[in-house]
Amino acid sequence: MSTEMETIDPGSVPQRQLYTGAKIPAVGLGTFGSDRFSADQIAEAVLGAAQIGYRHFDCAAVYGNEKEIGFSLQKAMKGGIKREELWVTSKLWNDKHAVEDVIPACQQTLNDLQLEYLDLYLVHWPFPNHHAPGVDVNSRDPHAIPYIHSNFLKTWRQMEKLIAMGLVRHIGTSNMSIPKLKLLLQDAKFKPAANEMELHPHFQQPEFFRYCMDNAILPIGFAPIGSPTRPDRDKSPDDSVDIQDPVIVKIAARLNVHPAVVCIKWAVQRGQVPIPFSIHPREYQSNLKAATVDPLTEEEMQEIAGIDKNNRLIKGQVFLWEHAGDWRDLWDQDGQIAS
Ligand SMILES: NC(=O)c1ccc[n+]([C@@H]2O[C@H](COP(=O)([O-])OP(=O)(O)OC[C@H]3O[C@@H](n4cnc5c(N)ncnc54)[C@H](OP(=O)(O)O)[C@@H]3O)[C@@H](O)[C@H]2O)c1
Repeated sequence: MSTEMETIDPGSVPQRQLYTGAKIPAVGLGTFGSDRFSADQIAEAVLGAAQIGYRHFDCAAVYGNEKEIGFSLQKAMKGGIKREELWVTSKLWNDKHAVEDVIPACQQTLNDLQLEYLDLYLVHWPFPNHHAPGVDVNSRDPHAIPYIHSNFLKTWRQMEKLIAMGLVRHIGTSNMSIPKLKLLLQDAKFKPAANEMELHPHFQQPEFFRYCMDNAILPIGFAPIGSPTRPDRDKSPDDSVDIQDPVIVKIAARLNVHPAVVCIKWAVQRGQVPIPFSIHPREYQSNLKAATVDPLTEEEMQEIAGIDKNNRLIKGQVFLWEHAGDWRDLWDQDGQIAS
C-alpha cells in the first residue's frame, strides 16, 4: 500500500444503529473476489483497508478466503485496532442449512477468521441449494428445492442458538423477499438485525427497503456500484450499467469523483449500508471517504431516486429447483412464495 494514501478517521464515518443498540459503520468492505482475485489479494486489501480506516468487513465462507482474511484481521489488531472497534460479518453457505451443520459451520468460520465472535452472521440464501463454484448459469442442483418455511425455521433456531452461545452478536438474512421475511418475523425468537440485499441506483427495491426500515431490520446493500466486474454467469444482455448512467456521471463530474463514489454517497445518505468491493487502495479509500465529505444535495438524491430501472443483477438462476419457472421464482415478485 502506498504510504501517501490519505487515511480516514474511523470516527468520522457515520454509523447505523441496529435494534439491539449496537452500531455498525455505514460503509463496509466487500470480500467476494468475483472469481477474479486470489484469496491473498483480497486479504491484503482487508489489511490495507483496515490501515486506512475501514472497520467493517463483509465476509462469507463461500468466498473461500476467510483463512487468509483471518491473518489480516490478526495483523490489524496487533497493529492497535481493538476487536470491539471492528464489525465482522460472515454468512452460512447453502450446503450448511441442516440442523447439525449450522453451529459447526459458524465455528469453522470463527476458526478461519481467528475470531471469538462475529458481529453479524447471515443465512446467505434462504434455499439449501448448492452449486459447484464457477458453474454455468444453466446448471441446476438436482436436489434443489423451493423455500420451505418450516425448514428455514429449523436453520434459524440454530442461528438463534449461536447468539445464546456467545459466538455471534447478531443474526440476519440475505437474498430474502418481503413474504419470506414476514413469515420469519412471525416465528423468530431473535428477529434478523439486518438483511443483506442487492441495492444500487438501478435496483433500489423501494418497497423492500421501506419494509426493512419499518421493521428495524438494517438493509445492507450488496453490489452497491452495480457490480461492474461480476462473473459472466451473473451478466444478462439487458443489464444496465449504473456507473454509466447520465445522472450519476453528471454528479460525479460536479464532485470530481468516479461515478462509483456517487453510488456510495447515495447509498449512505439513503440509509442502507453499502459494502463496496475493491482490492485497489485508491478505490477502497475513495469509497470510504465518500461517506465523510461532500454529501449529495437533496435534489441529487431525488434525481437518483428517479433512475431506478428495477434491474436485478444477481438473479440467482443456479439456485432454481427442477420444474421452477425462471429466476423470478426466487424473489416472490407477485407477493407469493413460489413453490
Ligand atoms: N449476500 C450476497 O448474496 C452477496 C452477493 C453479492 C455481493 N455480496 C457482497 O457485496 C460486495 C460488493 O459487491 P460486488 O463486489 O459484487 O459489487 P460492487 O461493490 O458493486 O462492485 C465492485 C467493483 O466495482 C469497482 N469499483 C469499486 N470501487 C470503485 C471506485 N471507487 N472507482 C471505480 N471502480 C470501483 C471495482 O472494479 P475493479 O476491480 O475492476 O477495480 C470492483 O471490482 C461483495 O464483495 C460481497 O462482499 C454479497
